[in-house]
Amino acid sequence: MLDRVTRDLQEEALLENPDDDGTVPLEARQRDLLRVVLLGTYREVDGTRRNTFKRGADSYPLVESPCWVIDGTNLQNLMGLLTQQLDPEKQLQLGTFVADSAATAVADGDRLFQRHAALLGSTGSGKSWSVALILERAKALSFPNLIVFDMHGEYSPLTEGQEPIAQGFRIAGPGDSDSDSRSLYLPWWLLNQEEMQALLLDRSESNAPNQAARLTHHVRELKLAQLEEAGRTEVAGRFTVDSPVPFSLIDLIARLEDDDTEMVPGARSEKAGPFNGRLTRFVARLKARTEDRRYGFMFGPPDEAVGYDWLHGLAKDLLGTKQGIKIIDFSEVPSDVLPIVVGVLARLLYEVHFWTAKDKRTPITFVCDEAHLYLPASVADIAEVRALDSFERIAKEGRKYGISLLVVSQRPSDVSRTVLSQCNNFIALRLTNDQDQAVVKRLMPDSMEGIAAALPLLDVGEALVLGDALVLPTRIRLDTPSIKPSSATKNFWTEWNESEVQDEDLVAAVEAMRMQSRP
Ligand SMILES: Nc1ncnc2c1ncn2[C@@H]1O[C@H](COP(=O)(O)OP(=O)(O)OP(=O)(O)O)[C@@H](O)[C@H]1O
Ligand SMILES: [Mg+2]
Repeated sequence: MLDRVTRDLQEEALLENPDDDGTVPLEARQRDLLRVVLLGTYREVDGTRRNTFKRGADSYPLVESPCWVIDGTNLQNLMGLLTQQLDPEKQLQLGTFVADSAATAVADGDRLFQRHAALLGSTGSGKSWSVALILERAKALSFPNLIVFDMHGEYSPLTEGQEPIAQGFRIAGPGDSDSDSRSLYLPWWLLNQEEMQALLLDRSESNAPNQAARLTHHVRELKLAQLEEAGRTEVAGRFTVDSPVPFSLIDLIARLEDDDTEMVPGARSEKAGPFNGRLTRFVARLKARTEDRRYGFMFGPPDEAVGYDWLHGLAKDLLGTKQGIKIIDFSEVPSDVLPIVVGVLARLLYEVHFWTAKDKRTPITFVCDEAHLYLPASVADIAEVRALDSFERIAKEGRKYGISLLVVSQRPSDVSRTVLSQCNNFIALRLTNDQDQAVVKRLMPDSMEGIAAALPLLDVGEALVLGDALVLPTRIRLDTPSIKPSSATKNFWTEWNESEVQDEDLVAAVEAMRMQSRP
């Protein structure tokens, strides 16, 4: 692959034409150079096989050997050859080559998802469209198992219409009715102790250790009581405080309040109990959360979400393959708890998948759109640490259990290094920011640096695909998905000339803001 073309002038001694006085004159000569990267080896005959191409150069061309540009039919043939080598079932058609738009670019679908992939590009470069395209291609398979974490509700068009590509879920917002089958709840009892503490504890308070201890103590007892009441003796004998077992939130608050106001017999008269007054702020915070309608998906789910069998239903909805691809809309989750909510869901799904019998698992991929929001490079608070833990664990161990990530972000430099460094395939769209380019360059082999120079110059929908999913690291023009996400770039100038804002729409907006839900 051509990496660089340079022309310079070099002074050359004209040895054959010395001057009359015997001095050798110097002459400036033009020198043209091509720098190339050896990508692979094509063989007409390779053992019993013919026309093979493999990545990497195992024999090197000699100096002065002729070289040719491959284009037109030859390029198509070569690309065709690369595609032929792929089992038709593994083929994932992404688009066409920029070098020759008649040649289709086909990736190895197995390899792309096997060991995590990243889809990176500045805002408006075409990431969401690429995701929609990949989902559309996956839809053609019999049992596609992908879950999209949709931060802006952009992918809802894919879940609508006659032939939806995916099934849509929504983390329930304040305006959603309990009966909507798309509403997704994540009741409090799904949180493990660390997540609960991250959500409810103020670490700067001197009583934080006491509060954490009491929380753990009561949650454990309440879970045990619930299991015994339900006659689940086997589970009761083995569960841990982190096991997702339903318990009553009202009982928890009552027990904490008792601690907070407890009086115990003293030597002469009653005295304050060991936790008296130490949990006041904690209880207040817990109550405030439970009363805040924005947190209803966690602290105010419908009654059946506190039933023992409810989690079975959630697992079937999200991990089953009957529904195919699932898209989960997080757009109404308050931003301060977004990382932890995404993290809890990912951890939960990972654990259910982990505990599924080995031969009963179907590989699953989490598509993490806007990953910088919940997989940050530097964590600001403990809640983000918890969320990141869940994903870093998937990034590190997921391959063995058939669970992988497709990390999508406009700010690769803000995405966790641990997660990115585990990615084996990169679809890099236009990247304008230096730091973001640097991240992508660092993830590429040295020999590819030249092609990284194209990153800021790519057109919308053009990508460099790097990694083992594609035999050649090449510039690709991605196909457009047939159902487009609702992420259209607005035409400011045109619209300023066309559409007028109506007062009543603004009034409706203010009311929606007050109710925290769209009409
Ligand atoms: N493959 C493509 N071919 C042609 N146009 C495209 C393509 N992909 C995207 N576009 C155009 O670019 C716009 C933005 O694309 P998209 O929503 O995918 O950006 P994005 O990278 O997800 O941005 P953000 O980071 O802000 O979410 C689209 O509305 C569409 O007009
Ligand atoms: Mg997007």
